[in-house]
Amino acid sequence: MKVIVTGGCGFIGSNFINYLLMDPNEDIEIINIDLRTYAGRGNNLDHMELKNNEKYKFYEVDISNKELILEIFKNELPDIVFNFAAESHVDNSIIKPDEFLKTNVIGTLNLLEASKKYPVKKFIQISTDEVYGSATQESFDEKCKLSPSSPYSSSKASSELLALSYYKTHGIPLIVTRSVNNYGPYQYPEKLIPLFITNLIERKKIPLMWSEDNPGSNIRDWIHVIDNCRAIWFLSQNGKIGEIYNIPGMNEKSNLEITKKILDKFNLDDTWIEKIPHRKGHDYKYSVSGSKLTKLGFQYKYDNFDKHFNEVIDWYKENKDWWDKIKNKTVVFGNGYLGNRISKEFGFILTNTNPLEINKLKKFLDLERPSIIINSIGKTGYPNIDWCENNKDETLYSNVTVPLILAQECYKRGIYFIHLSSGCIYEGDNDNKGFSEEDIPNFDDSFYSKSKIIAENILKNFPSLILRIRMPIDNIDHERNLINKLKNYNSVIDIPNSMTYVPDFLKVLGILLSKKAIGVYNVVNPGSISALDIVSAYKENINRAHNFEVMSLEELNRITSARRSNCILNTNKLKKEGIYLEDIKKRLHDCLRDYKMK
Ligand SMILES: NC(=O)c1ccc[n+]([C@@H]2O[C@H](COP(=O)([O-])OP(=O)(O)OC[C@H]3O[C@@H](n4cnc5c(N)ncnc54)[C@H](O)[C@@H]3O)[C@@H](O)[C@H]2O)c1
Repeated sequence: MKVIVTGGCGFIGSNFINYLLMDPNEDIEIINIDLRTYAGRGNNLDHMELKNNEKYKFYEVDISNKELILEIFKNELPDIVFNFAAESHVDNSIIKPDEFLKTNVIGTLNLLEASKKYPVKKFIQISTDEVYGSATQESFDEKCKLSPSSPYSSSKASSELLALSYYKTHGIPLIVTRSVNNYGPYQYPEKLIPLFITNLIERKKIPLMWSEDNPGSNIRDWIHVIDNCRAIWFLSQNGKIGEIYNIPGMNEKSNLEITKKILDKFNLDDTWIEKIPHRKGHDYKYSVSGSKLTKLGFQYKYDNFDKHFNEVIDWYKENKDWWDKIKNKTVVFGNGYLGNRISKEFGFILTNTNPLEINKLKKFLDLERPSIIINSIGKTGYPNIDWCENNKDETLYSNVTVPLILAQECYKRGIYFIHLSSGCIYEGDNDNKGFSEEDIPNFDDSFYSKSKIIAENILKNFPSLILRIRMPIDNIDHERNLINKLKNYNSVIDIPNSMTYVPDFLKVLGILLSKKAIGVYNVVNPGSISALDIVSAYKENINRAHNFEVMSLEELNRITSARRSNCILNTNKLKKEGIYLEDIKKRLHDCLRDYKMK
């Protein structure tokens, strides 16, 4: 039997695929159609190792794309369709209702049309108890009128009405399921239970909707996701065509009760609750009767709520890797030297998205929903900053406009923003003290430096982290590594400078990022070193045949179009954070040792 599962990368869809493939009694081939929106990008299926499974095929396709959906149905000729794909978060539907209509209604329409053209044996429309609206006293049965309150639930009500109309008009063999709230593994951590559990694991407060007359008292019924999957499969085999079935959990609990259960499991008290206002149109209670389902003979397996709820809490505790990548998703902009170094070191997503193409940027952010963005886009010149003097437009776009756009988008979306800046905005050693983060830049004699100062001044108005790097030396062979640059020059100057050992920079980035630090930080190694020191050490340790001369600053200025900043920054602020880095001379030594080994 061939089944199409739409939304198979999401919470319930992925559990459903797992459930079907695990059942040795069923000979089922699965076609998963999922757009992998933000909610489907959590690699929920990875643990099943489906790549070489002949019984599984994946189409990364939008169900609102009619042509592609028809094409898939034509090629696959499925027996059953399970339509899980949906925009599913109520809060998002209040902000962006159009996306909900597109996927939940138009997407369902396309699947129904395709099922009409390439007849299926069954079409299971996955709906929700939210279509009834808030329950007063009695539980709703399937005959009760629909009264959805949010754009999410009204889009779900619309899609199931549409589906039922295809049964009546075109005879599509259809069943609608209306399940209550699911809990279980692989739920996107924007939803109450995984959000609260993961927040507490991260030692963050938990945001509970609250008011004086409704202190977290909203009631929801909870079903274990596997029982919902079992019920959906059961109904596809035993349900009556053209019928609607509620799938209750028989575990009606207030949000405060659920919250307290989670807090108890962590041995934490109510002070961890952060009271936030109720969402608009917040339904007080969902409650449905399940007699129609149980009359068919369905039996629950996960009926000990406390036991299974505790198991689910443990699952999130044990699977931090899974949710951390989603919750703290970090995207690095700038596919250059440092962007690559950062993304490789931490396994962050590296994107080529150009922030200057704002619509593309917004689309990218809508899709990926990162919680952290690191901007390593910047023009440093080819082969050096002299280039910036003759390419001021490009320099400004990359070094000023890009960080401004990113900072603004991050601010609007609540994304933590980190910007890589430069220490080349000072000249001298500030009377032996070295420049601190508070000192006003005193060097803008190169357009490069100028652009970095402008960017910093703008970014200081945003809650961002600005890391000033200076003349990076590295233990890898790369053209942007200062050691590589200097070994190509015949003449070098002998003026002490602050420099950054890149592996130390990565370490500092990791620490400040985990603290979500804000503000400017000099990320250089203590001490100072000159270009002459570097090439001399290079000659001594790596290439004895290397020849060079020493030149004065005046000579250097004669051959360059942009003056070079020579300066020493201090690292007192890092020390205050408890971050002590090795002296730069020691780090040069380490670089050359690593070079030698390679
Ligand atoms: N989670 C619950 O408690 C609950 C309760 C009742 C009903 N439901 C319904 O169950 C279904 C699944 O819910 P969930 O919690 O797994 O949601 P989810 O948000 O975790 O997953 C939805 C999946 O649909 C995919 N998707 C979204 N738009 C798409 C598009 N245009 N084309 C193709 N794929 C697209 C996403 O990438 C994601 O993988 C939904 O229809 C939802 O309305 C959920």
